[in-house]
Amino acid sequence: MSGSDHSDAHADITELDGSNGTRNSHSNSASDCEGFSFVGSPPNTIPHAIRSRMLTVALVNHNGRLGRAIYAALLPLVQHFRIALVVLHRPDSDISSIPPEVETRALDLDRGDLAHVRTAVQGIHVVISALPLQAISSQKILVEALTSHPTLLTFIPSDFAPPWQAETENDDDEDVHNDEDEDVPHRFYRPHHPQLQFLVAKERIAQMARARGVPLTIVRSGVFVHRFLGSRSWGIDVRANRMAVYDGAMSKEWPLTTIEYLAASLCQLLSHPSKLPNRTFTSIQFLPTGDDLARILSALHGRAPKLEAFTDAEYTRDLDRGSTRYSPPR
Ligand SMILES: NC(=O)c1ccc[n+]([C@@H]2O[C@H](COP(=O)([O-])OP(=O)(O)OC[C@H]3O[C@@H](n4cnc5c(N)ncnc54)[C@H](OP(=O)(O)O)[C@@H]3O)[C@@H](O)[C@H]2O)c1
Repeated sequence: MSGSDHSDAHADITELDGSNGTRNSHSNSASDCEGFSFVGSPPNTIPHAIRSRMLTVALVNHNGRLGRAIYAALLPLVQHFRIALVVLHRPDSDISSIPPEVETRALDLDRGDLAHVRTAVQGIHVVISALPLQAISSQKILVEALTSHPTLLTFIPSDFAPPWQAETENDDDEDVHNDEDEDVPHRFYRPHHPQLQFLVAKERIAQMARARGVPLTIVRSGVFVHRFLGSRSWGIDVRANRMAVYDGAMSKEWPLTTIEYLAASLCQLLSHPSKLPNRTFTSIQFLPTGDDLARILSALHGRAPKLEAFTDAEYTRDLDRGSTRYSPPR
C-alpha cells in the first residue's frame, strides 16, 4: 500500500463475530465511504445542509504511532468530503499541522470532568481511540460520556492487539486447536501475568462499554510489522539472522500487519458505519509461517537462520523477569 494517500487503498479485514466465531471477509475501497462526491473542484466551504449529513468521525491520539497513520488515512476522506473529522487532542498536544478542514477539540481525559468529555464528543458518529497502552484506562470516562450518546453509531476503543484470547487454567493443547475452522489464528495469553495486564485493561474497557450499552466495535490487528522486525522482542532478530521458536511455531502462522494497512482497514469499516456496532474485526496483512520467515531470512543472508528453541518455561521466566525479549507469537 502506498504511504501517503490511502484514499483508494484496499485492505482486507476479517470479521470475527464474538458470539459464534463466524467470519466475513470485506474488501471494499475506502472510496465507498458514505459521503458526498463533487464533480469538478469541490467548494471551499461545505454547505451546512451537507455538513450536517456527513459521517462525523472523531480521532483520539492523532500523534501516536498508530494514530498518525489513521489520521493520514482519514485526511483524504475529509478532503474528498466523504467524512467530517474531529481531532480530539490533549490540551498540550501538537495540532500545528492540522488543516482548517479538520476540526480540533481539546479533550482532557485525566481531568475527571464528565461534562467536559461529553461536550468534546458532541455530534460525533464514530469515535476511534488510538490511545497508547499507558492511557488505556483513561478511556473509562470516555465510555461514560458515550453512554446514551444521541448521535453515536459506534466506539472503536484502543485495542488493535493481536487476536489473542485469555488462557484459563483448563486450557490445554486441544483447546488451542479447537478453532481449526477459523481463518483468524488465536494465541493464548496469561491474563494473570503482570506483564500482560494491558490486554486485561483493554478487555475491561470493552466490558464496561457493553455493560452500558455503548455501541462498540473491536478492531484487532496482527503484530505491527515495524515492531516485529525492528525489535528483537518478538523472537526474530533480522540482523543476527536468528529466530526463537516455540514448539510447532515453524508450521504456525504469525499474524502481521503494517500500521498503514490497519489504518486503511479502519477507513473501509467507515464505509458502512451502521453495520459496525457490536462486532469484532481483525486486520491481518501477512500470515507467514515460521518456515516462511526462515526462508526470507535465508534469502537475505544467503544462509539459513539460527533457530533457537523457546520453551514455555523460558517464556514464563522472561515474563517474570520483566523482559519482553524473545516472546514470539504464541
Ligand atoms: N498489534 C501490535 O503489535 C501493536 C503494537 C503497538 C501498539 N499497539 C496498540 O496500538 C494502540 C496505539 O498505540 P501506539 O503505540 O500507536 O501509541 P503511542 O505511539 O505510544 O502514542 C503516543 C502518544 O499518545 C499520546 N498520549 C495520550 N495520552 C497519553 C498518556 N496518558 N501518556 C502518554 N502519552 C499519551 C501522546 O500524544 P499527545 O501528547 O499529543 O497527546 C503521545 O505522543 C494501543 O492500543 C497499542 O496497544 C498494537
